[in-house]
Amino acid sequence: MLFRDRPAERLEELFDREWEVRRLVEAVGGRALTLVLGMRRVGKTSVVKAATYGRLRVYIDARVFEERPYISYDDFLNALRDELRRLLPLHKRLAELVARVRGVSVAGVDVRFEVGRNAPRLAELLEAFDQWAGERGERLIFIIDEAQELVKLRGRNLLPALGYAYDHLRNVAMVFTGSKAGLLLRFLRLEDPHSPLFGRYAERIDIGPFPPELSARFLEEGFRQAGAEIGRDLVERAVELLDGVVGWLAYFGLRALKSPGTALDETVEYAKRLAASEFCHFVQYTGSRRYIHVAKICRQGARWSDVKRYLTAAEGREVSDPEVTKLLTNLVNYGFLEKRGDLYIVADPALRLALGDLRC
Ligand SMILES: Nc1ncnc2c1ncn2[C@@H]1O[C@H](COP(=O)(O)OP(=O)(O)O)[C@@H](O)[C@H]1O
Ligand SMILES: [Mg+2]
Repeated sequence: MLFRDRPAERLEELFDREWEVRRLVEAVGGRALTLVLGMRRVGKTSVVKAATYGRLRVYIDARVFEERPYISYDDFLNALRDELRRLLPLHKRLAELVARVRGVSVAGVDVRFEVGRNAPRLAELLEAFDQWAGERGERLIFIIDEAQELVKLRGRNLLPALGYAYDHLRNVAMVFTGSKAGLLLRFLRLEDPHSPLFGRYAERIDIGPFPPELSARFLEEGFRQAGAEIGRDLVERAVELLDGVVGWLAYFGLRALKSPGTALDETVEYAKRLAASEFCHFVQYTGSRRYIHVAKICRQGARWSDVKRYLTAAEGREVSDPEVTKLLTNLVNYGFLEKRGDLYIVADPALRLALGDLRC
C-alpha cells in the first residue's frame, strides 16, 4: 500500500525520491555532516529512514520537543537512551562499549544514565559509537530528526561534541533533518567564528514538494494498488489544493479510500487546523501578535516595504525598520515565510488558507 500515515521505513515504501536517496547514501558514505531540509510532511523522515534502513544507525527524534518552550540536557539524553534501549539488546558489543562511558550503566537490557552533573557526555557516547562502527568496518549514521528543536536546549551546549565528532570520529556520519531550515542553521552556527562547527562543510539535501504530474501519478498509483476507482476530477483537484506535499497527498489518499466524497475537504480542513495551531503556538511563544499581521500581508507575497507600510497603517503608528526586519527574519527562520527574490511569501499552502480567517 502506497498511502501510509507514518513515515516510510524501507526503500520499497518510497514513491519516487531515487535522486534524494542516492545523494543521501553517498553523503553518509563520505561526509561527516549532512542536512536534510524541507517543509513539514514533505517526506524528510521517510527519505532518511528508508535510505539508512539496515545500516548501523542511532536515530533521535527531536520532534518530541516541539511543544516545549525549552529542554534540558537530561531530556535530550532520555531520547538517546530510549534509542539505546532498543539497540543494545541487538548489539552486545555496542552495549559493552557504551557501558564504559562515564555516567552510563548497562544491566541486562536496561540502560541508565546518571543525571545532572554526572550525566554522560555526548562526545564520549559518540566515541563509543565510532569505535563500534570502526570495529565492524562500517559507518554509523547518527540521525537527529527535526534537530532545530535542540536550539531550545538549556544548560549544556551540544556543539562542542558535534564539532569533535565532525573533526575526529571518522566512522560517524551525522544526519540532521529540519523543517525550519533557518533555525537548524542557527543551531549549528556553521558561519559563526566562535562556534565549534565554524567553517565545517555540510552536505545539504533539500526535499521538495512533488511537481503536479508526479503528485497525480502518486495518487493514481496509490488508488490502483488499493483497487479503488477514484475519478480524475477529484485527483486533479487534490493535486491543485495539496501542492505536492506528499504527506497531505497520502492523508487524502487514505481518507478517499473510505469516503471519496468528503476526503478532500477533510484533508484541507485538517491541514489548515494543524498549520493554524502551529502558527498560533509560535505567536504565543514569541508574545507578539504582529506576526499574525505580517503573515497575512505575505500570504500571496509581499516586499519588505509593503510589510512596513501595511503594518504602520494597521497600527496607526510607525513601526521601526529594525522591527520589520526582525519580524520577517523570524518568520523565515521558523519556516513560515520563504524569501523569493525580494518577495516574502507564505510557503505552506495550508497556512496560506488558514491565514484567511485566522484568530489566535
Ligand atoms: N516518498 C514517499 N512515498 C510515499 N509516501 C511518502 C513518501 N514520503 C512521505 N510519505 C508519507 O507522507 C507522510 C509524511 O512523511 P514524513 O516522512 O513523516 O515527512 P516529514 O518528515 O518531512 O514531516 C507519511 O505518512 C509518509 O508515509
Ligand atoms: Mg519528520
